[in-house]
This record gives sequence, C-alpha cells and structure tokens, in this order.
Amino acid sequence: MLSQAVILVGGQGARLRPLTHYIPKPMLPVLNRPFLEHTVAYLRKYGITDITLALSYLPEVIQSYLGDGSNLGVQINYAVEASPLGTAGAVKNAEPYLDSTFAVLNGDIFTNLDIADMLTFHQHKRAKVTIALTWVDNPSAFGVVETESDGKVKHFIEKPSPERITTNWINAGIYILEPEVLRHVPEGSHYMFERGLFPQLLKLNEPVYGYPFRGYWLDMGTSEKYLCLNCDLLSAKVISHLIPGLNRDGVSCKADATVHPSAKIMGPAVIGSRCRIDRRAYIRGPVVMGEDCHVGEGASIERAVLWTGVHIGTGASLKQCVISAHTRIEDNEQIIGCANS
Ligand code: GDD
Ligand code: MG
Repeated sequence: MLSQAVILVGGQGARLRPLTHYIPKPMLPVLNRPFLEHTVAYLRKYGITDITLALSYLPEVIQSYLGDGSNLGVQINYAVEASPLGTAGAVKNAEPYLDSTFAVLNGDIFTNLDIADMLTFHQHKRAKVTIALTWVDNPSAFGVVETESDGKVKHFIEKPSPERITTNWINAGIYILEPEVLRHVPEGSHYMFERGLFPQLLKLNEPVYGYPFRGYWLDMGTSEKYLCLNCDLLSAKVISHLIPGLNRDGVSCKADATVHPSAKIMGPAVIGSRCRIDRRAYIRGPVVMGEDCHVGEGASIERAVLWTGVHIGTGASLKQCVISAHTRIEDNEQIIGCANS
C-alpha cells in the first residue's frame, strides 16, 4: 500500500500571470478552495496521508494556510528549497520524509487517475519508476514518452518540436518511485526528473515503466485551463473529493448571500458568502463567485470565475473570464476572454 507522496510546488506559473503574481499556482482558488486542498483530498481518498510538500515559490503562503494538515485529515511535512532545485532535486530535498514506495505529483495537475491500480501495475512490473501517461492532442508543451508494448519506457522527449513528436502519450506528471532511485539525484543542486533522472535510469537499464490511463487529466498551466477546470468540476465532468456533493446544473449559494428576486441564476453556479446580486442581473453557469462579490443591476456573467471582493458595475457584461480578487469592473464595461487582474 502507498502511504507517502510528494507534491511539487515550485515555479511562478509564468503562463498564469497576473493571477499568480502573489499567489502560488497551487493555491489558486478552485471552486473557492485552494487547488492544493483538492489534491490533498484526492491523495487521502487513496489512503495516502503522509504528504510532503516540496516548496520553492512563496512557501510561507502555503505553510500558513495548510499547517500540519490535520484539518484535512492528513500529515503534511514541508521540504523548502532555498533556491529552486528542479523537480528531482526538490524530491531529493524531501528524502528524509521518504522511507517506502512513494508517489510524486506535479502540483498543477487535476486528475481522477486510479492511483491504486497504478501501484498494482508498478508492483507487477517490479518497476523502479512508473510514470502515468495521458493522451493529448498536442504534446509539444509536455514530455513525450515512448514505450515498448509491455509498457517499458524507451525514450523521453521533453517539450518536443513538432517533427520530433512520435506519440501523443505524454508524461502526466504523476509518478510512483522506489526510494532507492534518489541515490542518482545529486544533493543540493538543480536536477530534473524529465531531462535528468529518467533518461539516466534508462541509460542504466533500470526498469522504468509507463502506465497509460484514459481518465480526466488537466494541467492548470494557463488561465484558459484554470477556467476550464472550474467549469468541468461545476458541470460534474469530473468530481473533487474535497467537494463531492456538487450537483450538475445546481446553484449552490451561501445562506448569507443576497440575490434580488428579479435576478436570474442558471446553474451550475457556486455563490460565495456575503455576495450581493442586484436586480435583473443575469448569471449563466458555469460560474464561481468568491466571497463578498457584488453584481450590479442588469449585469451579466457567463462562464466565469470571480475571486473574492469583485465588484461588477451596473450593466457590465463578462464572459469566459477569470477576475482576480478585489477587481472593479466599471458600469457597462464588457470583458470577454481570460485572466484580468
Ligand atoms: N519544489 C519545486 N522546485 N517544484 C518545482 C520546481 C522546483 O525547482 N520546478 C518545477 N516545479 C514544479 C511546478 O510547480 C509544477 O508543479 C511541477 O513541478 C511541473 O512543473 P511545470 O513548470 O508545471 O512543468 P510543465 O507543466 O511545463 O511540464 C511538466 O509537467 C507536464 C505535465 O503537466 C513535465 O513533467 C512534463 O514532462 C509533463 O508532461
Ligand atoms: Mg505544468
């Protein structure tokens, strides 16, 4: 049984700016809860309760929010890097917390991968490393993984140029590792799984396997993907173990929110505490509104995520966008498209 995992939380999430200017990517609110809480709930469902966060960007924001993990029913350890050590270097830095077969997750992945089944595969193959593989239309932004018919990895190509793409199966950023492979990772220096450890293990002819799966998988690396994840959860395309009770098409509205009787809300929507929705406002889900948002008279919102304290002026119209905390949208302003600051 798998009981330990490391979640990688580094980098500024450059393609998510300005949203990640002062919030690390894994703390972005998803259905009004930090993304990492969903990941922790996912691991907990599989009995993985000894979780180490390998942190290199804004670690204090995460530590002060999650604490020792007891609120989430898990134990959280922290391995903080003085400067970014890369994906494998960050796990090496967490080595004191690892003493049995463990999982590693990129901190920006949402998936419903059956990790128990992946572990069975890993054990059956007697692998030292098993890499979950997901199929994508365009692999160029990912790590391509070529395998033999039995799943043994032949080749990695990280971020391939179009002519080097030989398969659509990519590294899903979820691994199962035997602790002994960490002896190949240099201590205290920058080292990556993708370009360093995995190719090195192949050279040494160590058993590295790919585990293909067809479930839900999303890398929340851009604001479009971030919006898409919120919408997919609202529409019940995938469920979160953190908020399992969400019902498709439903409107979940906090009791202390005020909605004018002439306002119209079409689900799926989540309306946070103390929100105020004025007369003839029109909300067409999927929509998430954080706490203390105000939607002015006649304003319309469609397929959007609003963080806390957003003000939408009278007659304004928003579609397909993410609005960060405390933003003021002026009367009659129109916003179409992602990520406003
Ligand atoms: N602690 C720590 N320190 N974490 C790091 C560091 C570091 O120095 N560098 C990156 N990370 C974390 C990121 O925060 C993220 O959670 C994860 O490692 C992967 O980094 P990304 O920057 O999101 O990489 P990517 O999405 O371009 O590519 C990776 O993920 C793809 C799947 O989404 C690679 O693993 C690809 O091969 C893979 O296909
Ligand atoms: Mg990523």
